[in-house]
Amino acid sequence: MSLELELNKFPKRVNLKGGFSCELRPLRRTDEESLHAFFRMLPEKERMFIKHRVNEQPVIRDWCQNIDYARNLPIVGLADGKIVADATLHQQQGGWKRHVGRVSVLVLPEYRGRGLARALIHEIVEVARNIGLEHVEAEFMGDQEAAIKMFALMGFSNLLTLEDYVKDMQAIKHDYVLMGLQLKTDEEYAGMG
Ligand SMILES: CC(C)(COP(=O)(O)OP(=O)(O)OC[C@H]1O[C@@H](n2cnc3c(N)ncnc32)[C@H](O)[C@@H]1OP(=O)(O)O)[C@@H](O)C(=O)NCCC(=O)NCCS
Repeated sequence: MSLELELNKFPKRVNLKGGFSCELRPLRRTDEESLHAFFRMLPEKERMFIKHRVNEQPVIRDWCQNIDYARNLPIVGLADGKIVADATLHQQQGGWKRHVGRVSVLVLPEYRGRGLARALIHEIVEVARNIGLEHVEAEFMGDQEAAIKMFALMGFSNLLTLEDYVKDMQAIKHDYVLMGLQLKTDEEYAGMG
């Protein structure tokens, strides 16, 4: 199935815990202010784990103005018109890992514990499966225990742990953890019956 067909399935509204409902849709060019506000609202300590300098407006502007869903597909969660969560499917076009997607996810602290990350990862994994990727992986620093636990609950298994292998944005070393999930295509499911 094509990525375009997958994108046509959005926006979607999901009903989560405690009567909370959220709209999920791909990031748009016009989201720059909202996305920048989202990253500014993250605790400083957590921003250190992000691979980019997301508190800098030019970084966010570049992301919003050069959207290429085939390389990075950010699906944002919106509450009251504001971005409160983001999960991105990263793909390498060509190369050894062209059949492997990478997923990252972030939820604002006050919106956690309602199933939002779970809903976003579910959407990303479905897109990855439907466009024919064979695996999805997720990378963590060892301290991201909540995230590691959540991905394990969603079927991801530990592929690799390297002690003190990566550095956060303050150059402090952390363990590197790689988790992965093997995807089955619809055809393979049909064949299993
Ligand atoms: C990890 C994170 C994305 C979870 O977001 P969330 O919306 O609160 O997650 P959900 O509500 O969908 O929780 C899904 C499951 O994960 C587990 N979980 C989530 N947060 C947890 C925590 N702090 N401690 C233990 N388990 C946790 C729960 O078991 C939960 O399942 P349940 O609700 O059925 O019990 C969020 O805490 C976050 O943004 N953290 C910082 C960024 C990060 O580490 N991202 C991952 C990098 S790829």
